[in-house]
Amino acid sequence: MSGLPASQPDMDFDPLSAEFADNPYPAYARLRSYGAPWYFAGYDIWLLSRYEDVAAAATHPACVRSPEAVMSRDEIAAQQVRDNWHDMPFHSRFVQFSLLNADGAVHQSLRRIIFNEFRTPSLQRLHATAQAHIDRLLDAVIDNDQMEFIEDFAARVPGPVIGSFLGVPEDDCGPLRQWSEDIVQYFDIDRSDARKALAETTTAEFYDYLLRLSDERRRRPKDDLMSRLIARYDASELSEDDYISTCMLILMAGHGSTIDILGNGLAALLAHRCELARLRNAPELMTTAVQEMFRYDAPLPFFHRFAARDIALNGWSIPKGTRLGLLYGCANRDEAAFPQADHFDAGRTPNRHIAFASGAHVCLGNHLARMELDIVFATLLRRLKDIEPADFAVRRRGLSVRGFETLPVAFKAA
Ligand code: HEM
Repeated sequence: MSGLPASQPDMDFDPLSAEFADNPYPAYARLRSYGAPWYFAGYDIWLLSRYEDVAAAATHPACVRSPEAVMSRDEIAAQQVRDNWHDMPFHSRFVQFSLLNADGAVHQSLRRIIFNEFRTPSLQRLHATAQAHIDRLLDAVIDNDQMEFIEDFAARVPGPVIGSFLGVPEDDCGPLRQWSEDIVQYFDIDRSDARKALAETTTAEFYDYLLRLSDERRRRPKDDLMSRLIARYDASELSEDDYISTCMLILMAGHGSTIDILGNGLAALLAHRCELARLRNAPELMTTAVQEMFRYDAPLPFFHRFAARDIALNGWSIPKGTRLGLLYGCANRDEAAFPQADHFDAGRTPNRHIAFASGAHVCLGNHLARMELDIVFATLLRRLKDIEPADFAVRRRGLSVRGFETLPVAFKAA
């Protein structure tokens, strides 16, 4: 059993750089070949990069999300000041302490309340709505022979789908994207005051909106998730904070990530023309192709855990309180887990990628996300031909997210 390394090599690892945004995989490969957890001072965190280490931490019962298991209230408050997370009353009530950030019994009971909503039979009811919405989006651009894929298409996909899942009226779905982006941006490593203010005011605005919509659903319940959650809240099975934070989490968790994976998935196909042709000729490969998109270029490549006690993790002894960074996107390119890991293989089987995490916090929305991608890519391949990059694409910067700012493409209607 080895302790965490006392000294370590300098590693060229700058996740805010343009180079990393363009292609983080060489930096990830360096981390993996180092072979041990690597301390990233910029974020005060030990990065896990190999698949077996990331999967072990994600499934370890003592690797938890909430700092409460390892710090006193005063220590948490001091840490929040250091990280510029303090003085954010709305953000801390409804975003920082959601089901995603809870552990143990609290986490399980919140997760149980919404678990069934995400099962495939419930989602099948959404299929026709999602297909019609995606066809309408494509109708609007198909005669132009080109589009900026992110702005003109991908960014418009998830809002109405998640909105309809939760019970947000279609006419109100417009601001969801901006709300979710403005709140989620504060989870990345740039914690400037301007970004903080934006996250806080947007959370307050979102909260007001949800209160108004809740009143409406309380007066006139519908067959939707929000009406069912309100019934639980009114029966005192959920606190107001848990109710609001769960609605916010559902709206935010699947928004930016879906936009990003749509761009990443299309870019992967355009960079692997043989695989694109293979998929056109064998549409039954769509399920494995979509899984491969998540493995090949995960849109949420990084999440943290705390060691709630001294633990052993694949031969490393990790002291209580250690902050661990789980690099899902890096683990997904580990040759030890995926032969020819840097190659996009539309038919890859098995594909035990970890883009949706693993263990207690495994993504609840993974069936919904995969259903959306299935519909989008089947529709794009059916209705468009000769899809090509049309101009320089621009990547978003950051460690927690991976996607495109812009991805211009040209095409012809099929
Ligand atoms: C589109 C791509 C998506 C990716 C890559 C993704 C990825 C993830 C990951 C990695 C986690 C676990 C975080 C951790 O390890 O700490 C997670 C949790 C979660 N995701 Fe997703 N997600 C996606 C879409 C969605 C969608 C569409 C929804 C819902 C509409 C959703 C809802 C959730 C929820 C509620 C959790 C919290 C689960 C828990 O803590 O028990 N996700 N997601």
